[in-house]
Amino acid sequence: MKQFAIIAGSGFRSFATNSETRIIDTDFGKPSGPLRKIELSGHAVYFLPRHGDDLFIPPHAINYRANMKALKQLSVEQIISINTVGVIAEKQHPGQIAIPDQLIDYSWGRAHSYFDGSGKIDHIDFTHPFSESLRNQLLVAANNADVAVHVGGVYAVTQGPRLESAAEVDRLCRDGADYVGMTAMPEASLARELGMDYACLSLIVNYAAGRGQAPIHEDLAVGTKKAKARALALIESFFLNLK
Ligand code: HPA
Repeated sequence: MKQFAIIAGSGFRSFATNSETRIIDTDFGKPSGPLRKIELSGHAVYFLPRHGDDLFIPPHAINYRANMKALKQLSVEQIISINTVGVIAEKQHPGQIAIPDQLIDYSWGRAHSYFDGSGKIDHIDFTHPFSESLRNQLLVAANNADVAVHVGGVYAVTQGPRLESAAEVDRLCRDGADYVGMTAMPEASLARELGMDYACLSLIVNYAAGRGQAPIHEDLAVGTKKAKARALALIESFFLNLK
């Protein structure tokens, strides 16, 4: 049985109760918070709170290298990244869920690689940035749980913590992006550098800037609640059916 981990942000604190806690240190410093070994449908899964237990760590200040290295040290092989996104694609709406298959990285200044000049370099193959097999497993879980998901799509990673301007979203759209979020990079490439499978379960929580009718923060409140409920059902089904 492969060791799984879930990285999630706000809204998934329910995963963190009554669980065995592991304080891990790495060559790159401490991860965002204690790693908790939780049980999901009879499977032991590590849970890492991406923004820390108090949710005080903004996307650009996360120690991504420590987070991913800590999971590697715990022999994690498969990482489900739960993250929130704004939607750019037409006919998709807050409250829905997506399993993107591509990304474009617009983030900057983040420590984003373990190849720091101190050893041999490996130029990882990043043609398909997310693990296809893990994406497929998520899709099967969605079908089993009767949770509708958007399959595929391009996740644009912005720096944050502010949301985008409408013109920035227009540019992302011209570049071919369907979703915009702040954390899939460098998580995805660091996981690849360490040989761990990584896929995103993206919660669509708002229309991207300039694309919706209501103020973004009004969308966010409703979208997050609905998408979270769907994601929880999907995750439960994922581990229930894990062989
Ligand atoms: N932009 C960037 N990140 C996000 C958004 C957004 O609109 N919504 C949730 N995370």
